[in-house]
Formats: sequence, C-alpha cells, structure tokens
Amino acid sequence: MDGRGLNRSAVAVLLSIGVMVGAYGVARCLVPDTTPARLALMLPGHGAVAIGPYLQRADAGHGARMVEQICGGCHAFRAGADDVAGPNLFGVVGRPVASVSGYAYSDALHHAGSGRVWTEQALSDWLSGPDRFAPGTRMSLNGLSDPALRADIIVYLRTLRQPQD
Ligand code: HEC
Repeated sequence: MDGRGLNRSAVAVLLSIGVMVGAYGVARCLVPDTTPARLALMLPGHGAVAIGPYLQRADAGHGARMVEQICGGCHAFRAGADDVAGPNLFGVVGRPVASVSGYAYSDALHHAGSGRVWTEQALSDWLSGPDRFAPGTRMSLNGLSDPALRADIIVYLRTLRQPQD
C-alpha cells in the first residue's frame, strides 16, 4: 500500500468513527430517557403516589444525608433539641400533625392536619408539595417530586425515635 492508500484508509476509519459518534448522539436525542419513577408524578390528581413500594427499597443512609442537606437548615432532629424555623422532627413518624408543644404552627397546617397523624403516606404527600397539602403553610419547600427520595427521607425519619418506642 502506498502513502495515498494509507491516507485513504485513515480517512475512512476516521469517517466511520465520526458516523458512529454522530449516530449515537442523534439516537440519544431521539429516544427519550424513560425513567418511570418521575412519570407517575405527572399524572393528574393530588400527587398521592403510594409510597409503600418505595419504602421497601429505600435507603435510610441516603435519607440521612439528604435530610441534612435539604431540611437541616430549618429543623432539628435530636430528642429535646430546640425548634428552629420549623418544629423538631425527632419522633415525627406516627405523631399527630402540628403537635409539638410550644411551636407556633400556621393555621394552615393546624387546619389541614386536624385529627391526622404523620403516617408514612401523609409525610410523602406533605413532602411532595407542602403547599398542596396545607395551602398557606409556612414551610417554604418546593416539594420533592421524586418518590424514591421521599422514601429515603421517610425511612430515615422513622429511625428518629426513643429505643423503647
Ligand atoms: C425553609 C425552612 C424549611 C425547610 C427547608 C424544611 N422545613 Fe419542614 N417545616 C418548616 C416550617 C416553618 C414548618 C411549620 C409549617 C407550618 O406551621 O405551616 C415545617 C413543618 C414540617 C413538618 C410538620 C411537623 C409537625 O410537627 O407537624 C414536617 C414533617 C416537616 N416540616 C418535614 C420537613 C422535611 C422532611 C424537610 C426536608 C425534606 C423539611 N421539612 C424542610 C420549615 C422548613
């Protein structure tokens, strides 16, 4: 093979690599990424995704890190710690809504939560859209749209209880 032949095959190789990369790029644009977890949330309704199945594969360790990042600025999580902007969340799973004595809840949360307990499902609904759960609430959080993330957070919150409970 002379020099020109070599050059031609080099060009051919480069061209085919280019075509492959290009085709991959085009395919990635054309074929949507179908992650089902998020689609469920776009369904009409009250965002009430059943959290049970997500809890079974939830990761409390990840929940703990996320809680520190997302909620830590406004909530305390240790028994007996003072309320911050929001009420202390130690033992929140299973406790009546808006029931930390001495914390001044909004009328919105009192109203929406009257007679209700923070079950795992109620927490999931709340975290997916606080303002939808209790319109006018003072908890200014946009809402966590990913049910897997909410489940991770809830299983972590579940660990925050006295040992004898
Ligand atoms: C910007 C501050 C802020 C952030 C961030 C925040 N919260 Fe809150 N949270 C509040 C406030 C304020 C209230 C009281 C709401 C009211 O009275 O309307 C509250 C109330 C709550 C309640 C009701 C507690 C009860 O005693 O009834 C729960 C549960 C809760 N937050 C969980 C969370 C979790 C979990 C996160 C993180 C994913 C979070 N919050 C992030 C400020 C915040």
